[in-house]
Amino acid sequence: MSGTRPRGETFEYAGATVELIDAPTVLAAARVNPVELLRRADWPSPVQRVDLTVASADRPDGPVHTFAAAISTAEEPLSKERIRKLVLGTDPVGLLLAKRIEAGDPIATRIVDNIGAAAAAAYKKLGLDRPNAPVAQREPGTLADAVVGLQAELTYDPTGTVVRLHAEVPRDEVTPAHLQAFVGLTLQAVIELAGPESLAGRRYSVSREAVSKVPATTQTVTLDMVGGLAEVVAELREIAVSFRHPEAMARWGARRPQGLLMYGPPGTGKTMLSRALANEIGADFREIRTPEILDKWLGGSERNIKQIFRDARRYRVPTLMLFDEFDSIISYAGSGGDAASQAINAVAGIFKQEMNDLIEANPNVIVVATTNFPHRVDDSLIRSGRFDVKISVPKPDEASRAEIFRKMIHGLIAAHEAPGFQMFTDDLDLTALAAASHGMTGADIKEILRRVQLSKAMQDARSGGRVAPITTDELLASVRELTEPTGPR
Ligand SMILES: Nc1ncnc2c1ncn2[C@@H]1O[C@H](COP(=O)(O)OP(=O)(O)OP(=O)(O)O)[C@@H](O)[C@H]1O
Ligand SMILES: [Mg+2]
Repeated sequence: MSGTRPRGETFEYAGATVELIDAPTVLAAARVNPVELLRRADWPSPVQRVDLTVASADRPDGPVHTFAAAISTAEEPLSKERIRKLVLGTDPVGLLLAKRIEAGDPIATRIVDNIGAAAAAAYKKLGLDRPNAPVAQREPGTLADAVVGLQAELTYDPTGTVVRLHAEVPRDEVTPAHLQAFVGLTLQAVIELAGPESLAGRRYSVSREAVSKVPATTQTVTLDMVGGLAEVVAELREIAVSFRHPEAMARWGARRPQGLLMYGPPGTGKTMLSRALANEIGADFREIRTPEILDKWLGGSERNIKQIFRDARRYRVPTLMLFDEFDSIISYAGSGGDAASQAINAVAGIFKQEMNDLIEANPNVIVVATTNFPHRVDDSLIRSGRFDVKISVPKPDEASRAEIFRKMIHGLIAAHEAPGFQMFTDDLDLTALAAASHGMTGADIKEILRRVQLSKAMQDARSGGRVAPITTDELLASVRELTEPTGPR
């Protein structure tokens, strides 16, 4: 970690101590992706778990922050494995019973007398001897926090085992006090289920949890997912901290970076790093593409770039503007004098002017530019003051490639493995993979994995049967295939 742990705020609720860690970041991050809180906490019976999610949504009147809590009192479905481990040990009769119990078969208790007794004990230990006590069949209602004026709707699932709370606050008005109030209302709902003293002496920490089980298909990209590039990642974390703490910057008269340029060969992770930085800051992500600017009509391009910056000066929420492939968007066309070159030069001129005081005009904005060709970018465009930070993003060395393999494979496992389905063998040789993939980038490694995944999926589709997990040898073959393409492509 970067050694810059966010500060927490502590409050008391019904005898419980609640620590709210870096609420501004939670709220900011929720604009980009839902943020889950409290999931790993321990609750008084009968509450089993509480899922508290802060997210954002668009309503006809504008964007809002949504606060949602689901308080569950039902056990998660019992797996055969779990029943067996918990109660019956590993003998074959236990296995059979576990199967039956799982299937909800009361006959299991009567198979043979003495086993019947064991099963009855099992039922009892698992709490299955009592009918599933419904939490409540109560009417929907409202819980309100008078201090900040937050109102949460209270509803019950038809099963009676989940209580839900939902509140919304306009994005422009939301503050950490709203988050604190919603946590308070959630605890109040827990108390109603578990009794007035049930929270006394407990501690809860409300912080942004690592997003680990998010399917790989979502856009969430975090700095943790970047392999290698430790210094670059550390620098981006610093920039994110400076962005999130304008008060500290102001106290010291410091100016945080307003623009940063990342340059390096294709596929080394520049675009990924930009997205991850937006996520780390909790900023909206706005990518500026060439067609948005370059216009064949006289004066059109100038108008476009002016409009882009006019918008940027009005962003009311933290926003990362990305000029991806910067050299193709903004450059100087020499002094050819034809209309096209003049337009290009005019765009570059406007860009320069706008970047001079963007951060003073709007502290919510940070600009990132990426390029494969830093020498094609005119020095005057990226001089300090306009782009304060210039970061080289090189091809990964061997240790970094091992880390990229490890993180990507880890991500795939988290997203796709499930009970009964193993995607990779346990003994993957990352060192061998890193050595074999000499000269390759993160994008190449992603492609290597994609090919192996596809070939496995095709095997699965054709045979309809079980396909063995991916091995080191299969990955090595895919590496070779990418280095020495054979046959027509
Ligand atoms: N260091 C890395 N760690 C993890 N994944 C990486 C890394 N570098 C690249 N990747 C993977 O490769 C993909 C492509 O990388 P990305 O698009 O960020 O490269 P780029 O530097 O922007 O390339 P280009 O210059 O061609 O635009 C990413 O989405 C990511 O999955
Ligand atoms: Mg890119």
